[in-house]
Amino acid sequence: MPPPAATCPPAPRPLNLRVWPSLDGWRVTLKALIVEARAVPGTCVIGLQWGDEAKGKLVDLLTLEHDIVVRYQGGANAGHTVVVGDQKYKLSLIPSGILTSHVQCVVTGGVVLHPPSILAEIDGLSARGLSVGKNLMLSDRAHVIFPWHIAEDRALNDSTADGESLGTTQRGIGPCYRDKVGRSLALRLGDLYRDTFRSRVAHIVQAKNRAIAAMDSSDTFEPLNPEEIYAEYSRCAERLRPHVADTTAYLLNAAEQGKRLLFEGAQGSLLDVDHGTFPFVTSSNSSGVGVPSGSGVPGKHINRTIGVIKAYSTRVGGGPFPTEQDNPLGQLLRDRGNEYGTVTRRPRRCGWFDAVAVRYTARLSGVDELAIMLLDVLSTLDEVQICTAYEIDGRRVTDFPSHVDDLRRAVPVFESMPGWPEEINQMRQLGDLPQAARDYLDRLSELIGRPVSYVSVGPERQQTIFAQQKLKPVGAV
Ligand code: GDP
Ligand code: IMO
Ligand code: MG
Repeated sequence: MPPPAATCPPAPRPLNLRVWPSLDGWRVTLKALIVEARAVPGTCVIGLQWGDEAKGKLVDLLTLEHDIVVRYQGGANAGHTVVVGDQKYKLSLIPSGILTSHVQCVVTGGVVLHPPSILAEIDGLSARGLSVGKNLMLSDRAHVIFPWHIAEDRALNDSTADGESLGTTQRGIGPCYRDKVGRSLALRLGDLYRDTFRSRVAHIVQAKNRAIAAMDSSDTFEPLNPEEIYAEYSRCAERLRPHVADTTAYLLNAAEQGKRLLFEGAQGSLLDVDHGTFPFVTSSNSSGVGVPSGSGVPGKHINRTIGVIKAYSTRVGGGPFPTEQDNPLGQLLRDRGNEYGTVTRRPRRCGWFDAVAVRYTARLSGVDELAIMLLDVLSTLDEVQICTAYEIDGRRVTDFPSHVDDLRRAVPVFESMPGWPEEINQMRQLGDLPQAARDYLDRLSELIGRPVSYVSVGPERQQTIFAQQKLKPVGAV
């Protein structure tokens, strides 16, 4: 009787010599492996809240250890304030690395570029004696923001999401990303240098004038003039020409050669279009998941992700914010933290730290370690509170809700800790901090499940404590 089929040994396969690599093939493979092993992968700086976590300050500090600083999503909606000595710089599209002379700054194809804004930023920096030349590279793949995007942003801002305004920065970000995905009415930076640029502007303006007039409830929209736009953007394109390049190729080569890359996130993970508090989000992937797609650099070149958080929470614009303190305490945080938008000067909404939200975004963004910023703002308070869970319809929830309606009904469950009376902005070591401040940092680290590497106690570079704490046991939120 023949043995059962399952135990039957497989017939020996003939050796196919053609698929065996030649000696040359092995050499190529070996060389690639050596290059890869030698490569120093990149570092990412990602905001874990709703933006303005002081990413700019941290990027400026970390720039010294890197060769290239990469901005890979968002646009002129971002505002990063960096203080160097007695100088204050407000950066928006240009990576914060521009303040360090040896560093190459790269704005990749995931960014939406408004040429007049980036030129104003370049001129502002040059007027202050900073060199902005070959050290700033702009991707020819970056989509361009035109006046119609700004007009659409204005017309749409107040007419969405059940009557609650999105509160966008009105910089045309959403409409430009929408056209990018829609494809037929989009122009990239590289298109501005082609013969077809003029006719494409004329074609798009015709369609946009009709669409915007139909959207505009105030009836104040003045039709756009294609020739004026073409002339203005052609002038901008000429001035930007020396900066424009294929940044994907440049970064892939740099990563493979072992150059040290620093990826500067804009906005915060809770504003991520796919994973944030939709629709009250921005239009790009502002969490850690956006780094490879926005930059064109695969994740294998990234080995360190730093999550940046404020010691409390803020939000600008519309949308639910469970720990918001719309009361004198919120005003106190706003005053002490100077919480007014860098781009729009709008007062930021302020509240207690939300560990449910940040534990979620730290996991989503693949965070290895934390930078806790603006800790000094909490000084002088009798007590500090941390939200460790939500109550939603009588149920205790520790996973961040995926639907904004559930988040709207979330009632925060707070844990209270003693505050500390003394100002801490002159302190430079963890050991100098009052015990209550150290306990607060430990508790945040425990709730988020990540160690703390940096603590910031003021806007200046030297107002930073290099903590490198050991990871504490992960506590259940
Ligand atoms: P970003 O968008 O994440 O770069 O943050 P912003 O620059 O919009 O907002 C952070 C603000 O806090 C800026 O005005 C910084 O100068 C300031 N800042 C940074 N670190 C500290 C800090 O540790 N303490 C205080 N009080 N202010 C800080
Ligand atoms: P940085 O990089 C804080 C918010 C806007 C609005 C929503 C959508 O400085 O952290 P948009 O204009 O992007 O369509 O607006 O996103 N927003 C930010 N909030 N910091 C930012 O950037 C932001 N960029 C956008 O206020 O609620
Ligand atoms: Mg900001």
